[in-house]
Amino acid sequence: MSQRSCLGIVLAAGKGQRFLSHQPKVMHALAGQPMVGYVMDAAVSAGASKIAFVHGPEMSDLVSYANETGNKIIGKRNISFFEQRDRLGTAHAVLAARSAWKKGIDDILILFGDTPLIRSETLINIRKELAGGAHVVVLGFHASNPRHYGRLIRDKDQNLIEIREYRDASQSEREITFCNSGIMALSGAHALSLLESVDSDNAQSEFYLSDLPLLAHQKQLRIAVVECSEEDGTGINNRAELAYVESLMQNRLRNEALAKGVTMIAPETVFLSYDTLLESDVLIEPYVVLGPGVSVARGTIIRSFCEITGGKIAENVNIGPFSHLRPGVTLDQDATIGNFVELKDAKIASGVQIKHLSYVGNATVGDGVNIGAGVITCNYDGVHKHCTEISAGAFIGSNSSLVAPLKIGTNAYIGAGSVITMPIEANTLAFRRSPLITRKKKSADFHKADQRKTRKNCEAKKH
Ligand code: UD1
Ligand code: MG
Repeated sequence: MSQRSCLGIVLAAGKGQRFLSHQPKVMHALAGQPMVGYVMDAAVSAGASKIAFVHGPEMSDLVSYANETGNKIIGKRNISFFEQRDRLGTAHAVLAARSAWKKGIDDILILFGDTPLIRSETLINIRKELAGGAHVVVLGFHASNPRHYGRLIRDKDQNLIEIREYRDASQSEREITFCNSGIMALSGAHALSLLESVDSDNAQSEFYLSDLPLLAHQKQLRIAVVECSEEDGTGINNRAELAYVESLMQNRLRNEALAKGVTMIAPETVFLSYDTLLESDVLIEPYVVLGPGVSVARGTIIRSFCEITGGKIAENVNIGPFSHLRPGVTLDQDATIGNFVELKDAKIASGVQIKHLSYVGNATVGDGVNIGAGVITCNYDGVHKHCTEISAGAFIGSNSSLVAPLKIGTNAYIGAGSVITMPIEANTLAFRRSPLITRKKKSADFHKADQRKTRKNCEAKKH
């Protein structure tokens, strides 16, 4: 089959009206990636060597996302874009890309941008049917909840006759639970004549891709049906379905992580991203959210209620509970990041301890540094961001403010409560405080005054 050329057509021009959104439906993210990204990945993994991407007018964010993704996964020269100006239905959308297969292509895989759980293995099975002589291959599934999917109508020998869209279906047809995933494959040689025969004589006055099986029958072409699970074929048409598919996607990601030797005490409370990399023997406690761009090496523990986005975390690090790691953080081995610590754009070397209530941003922190409770790197002057460098072995006393740009030298020691605005040399003790004032025995006067006030208040209440 590898000798057969394959074009993947991704349909993403729909207005997504049921989404009530300002952005195209297929740009809505699942596990941190726009849903259409999964579809493009699946097409390429199934052997598509070219992608034709069909979008609507004024969808520049979608086009730039698809372009960037296409460049990454298939190369700049192999993705082309087609605008479907009037959204007149799924068959009309495929025809918008007709010049993509003009030159002759064996297999045409038609994918919907709103069906992101599709697996490349399923697409490979569909292509096998084309290789075996089918001209049209339909992907269907048995649904426990058939919703508004098109229904596959079969004869008594279970051969597919036609697909009936929900809105055009009779009551008895709606009772059929074998549904159309929308995903279809066509032999390149017959695609154009089939698509050009589609009309819009239906409840929505649209050109339905789902009319192809009936038309193929009439042209005495061969039709095959491949089956997938209800989950894999799930389409997303509204926010409730988006939330449902997110839960399915999260389960997939969690199960993959568990299978690779990650421990999660309550996996259902841990949220991962499409690109999360977790090595074996990572332990994740309940209620943790890992945004895109996170990798965690073996032996690291992420305790409850942490949110981490865009971070590279080495072996045997301890994070949390309640830590917030924003993009641009690297943590070297054996570092400890404790509760209510926020890190951003920070390079933290091995053995560093930042255990409580700190903000460290735009900073590099050297080996073995200890940062006390309540330390802040003051990185922003209201206009620009500035960097702080804390060299190896330094100790920063609690509740200190390090006003950037600033360098703290190796093994320097900053006394608690200091506001440091000048570079501190290596091996230097530095502290800045208001002088301590003491008045011997004076505290007794305050106690007496306080007792008198309390007595007076009590008497006033009695009257
Ligand atoms: C479609 C199928 C239905 C199937 C269901 C599975 C048709 C007519 N119906 O219905 O049988 O059960 O998917 O999820 O094919 N699009 C365009 N241009 C258009 C219209 C749609 O590019 O003019 C794109 C959309 O962006 C979307 C995909 O095609 O990615 C499917 O469109 P949608 O409107 O969601 O179709 P469904 O009503 O879900
Ligand atoms: Mg849909």
